[in-house]
Amino acid sequence: MKSQITQTFQRHFEAEPLVVFAPGRINLIGEHTDYQEGFVFPAAIAQGIWVGIAKNNLAVCRAYSLDFEQEFCFELNSMSPKKGHWATYIMGMCTLLQQAGYPLVNFDLVIGGDIPVGAGLSSSAALSVSLGLALSELFSFPIQKKNLALYAQKSEQLFAGVNCGIMDPYASSFGKQGKAMLLDCRSLDHQDVPVNIEDYGLLLIHSKVSHSLASSAYNQRRAACEESVVILQQSYPEIRTLRDLAVSDLPTIKRLLPEALFPKAKHVITECDRVHQTAAALSSENLALVGSLLHASHQSLRDDFEVSCAELDFLAKQTEKAKAVLGARMMGGGFGGCLLSIVKQQESQVFKDQIQAAYEKTFQLTPEFIEVALGDGARKI
Ligand code: GLA
Repeated sequence: MKSQITQTFQRHFEAEPLVVFAPGRINLIGEHTDYQEGFVFPAAIAQGIWVGIAKNNLAVCRAYSLDFEQEFCFELNSMSPKKGHWATYIMGMCTLLQQAGYPLVNFDLVIGGDIPVGAGLSSSAALSVSLGLALSELFSFPIQKKNLALYAQKSEQLFAGVNCGIMDPYASSFGKQGKAMLLDCRSLDHQDVPVNIEDYGLLLIHSKVSHSLASSAYNQRRAACEESVVILQQSYPEIRTLRDLAVSDLPTIKRLLPEALFPKAKHVITECDRVHQTAAALSSENLALVGSLLHASHQSLRDDFEVSCAELDFLAKQTEKAKAVLGARMMGGGFGGCLLSIVKQQESQVFKDQIQAAYEKTFQLTPEFIEVALGDGARKI
């Protein structure tokens, strides 16, 4: 991909670019907890976004997307990021860096990547992080990785309209090969945990659906959690978010919250607990426990947090029946995208054939299988 970016840049802009890469991410467990300052357990993957960049001495910036085979020009002092356009993330990140006091001068960009679209592997965070890194390399800005992740999060919130948490850009910035990170979304500190899963592999099963209510439902779920916090603070004045509550508080919380809110709060509290249990189980190589925690996470996202969908639930049910699968759950924001599964490598092909046949028969859709390897975070290449 690097040579493709460089060649396209030379052809299109007649200059030599600096190239950076930022990966997409998976999340082993800890879903819909980041925006409650909770715990998540993501990892960067080998697939991601590459950006080639060079200064251009022109009056505009020019960006060329390999995927869309399209050029987009914009001016740094009058940008108008439009929701839904690929260049939104570019202008969003430029706006945030300028607001933070980093002076930009006009540049050219070529962007390409190999993250499957709509799979929920955070291609948008990878794009924002790679652009932020490209700009900081080009102009020698001393931007720390953590701040790069925070700018990328803010850009997505402001310009893409999703009130997202820190997990995706953080994972894209801090990934380590072969490791997942146990991230505390309050302190923004993490611990790298080796993912040794013996003769199993991480397999994503892309449902090939992405329901349109995803971003509005995401914002609603976040708002529901915030509403619960306000109510619970009357009895627990010391709490700032749901992360400050424990599984042992659930019986009391059930009495305090309206019926519609309690299951959502319960999900966040139990999911944070599952994150710690999963990290401990991985460290002690208790793989059976890792598997059952993944299944429990799916159930909680389906029944309590209500962010799954028929297609993901069907795939999850199939994995429960399959001996080759250690555990599986829906991954990311929900309402489509991927099921993350841990599958015995030797039996993987038979399992894929079976699940594909069953899924095609029920939904007339062919799932996509994506094997993932855990890779390093954003870097110049
Ligand atoms: C999306 C958001 C993340 C996180 C997940 C759910 O990927 O971007 O911040 O909230 O959903 O865990």
